[in-house]
Amino acid sequence: AMVSFVSHDGETHTASLDEGQSLMQVATNNAVPGVDGDCGGEAACGTCHVIVDPQWSERVGLSGPDEEQMLAMNPEREPTSRLSCQMAVCDAWDGLTVRLPEFQM
Ligand code: FES
Repeated sequence: AMVSFVSHDGETHTASLDEGQSLMQVATNNAVPGVDGDCGGEAACGTCHVIVDPQWSERVGLSGPDEEQMLAMNPEREPTSRLSCQMAVCDAWDGLTVRLPEFQM
């Protein structure tokens, strides 16, 4: 299963999804620029912010309460924003597309 990360300037990086990882881990393992994951996946830094393609939002779900606290501080927050460290990937997400914000916090 593949996921596409689209940077703010329109560059696309694809990576394969490994079940059991978070989407942040997939991005950092594949050196996708724009996903830092500074806190290691604790929903505490906001450097793993992604904006889920609205077509996928229902399938991958919306942000939970811990994410909301971080996202609420983010000026680039959009309705389908997620912290990718809080997204446990599954094979059914093949073809998922997420956008990256212009700036990570
Ligand atoms: Fe820090 Fe996701 S890695 S909030």
